[in-house]
Amino acid sequence: MTGWRRSEGVNPQSRMPLPEGVSRGAQFSVVVNDEKVSAFEGESVATVLMANGYPIMRTTQKGEPRGVFCGMGVCFDCLVIVDEVPNSRACMTWAAPDMRIIQQQGLTRMRVQEDDSFDA
Ligand code: FES
Repeated sequence: MTGWRRSEGVNPQSRMPLPEGVSRGAQFSVVVNDEKVSAFEGESVATVLMANGYPIMRTTQKGEPRGVFCGMGVCFDCLVIVDEVPNSRACMTWAAPDMRIIQQQGLTRMRVQEDDSFDA
């Protein structure tokens, strides 16, 4: 794992406390890079990444880190690979059980394999 992926010193369970009477959705697991992390129903991929110590969603082609900027699908700074689909906006994608999320490096294009599966 390269140094830009996981933030050093970040509590891997840094979700905000909930006010009284409010509860989270069902807990499930997703995989970020090669690490299994927790997520809750109703969270976006961006939320899951940040809550588990991954504030950097992608790097530019020059290797500069990018995270959530607008948080509403406009800036495209949060592009990640979700279930082999590159250029997925983390802030606009709901987390789902067993989802596989990879922080994207530069521009990524899908390559269609001979068996019609995709390779990012
Ligand atoms: S943070 Fe701007 S599109 Fe996701």
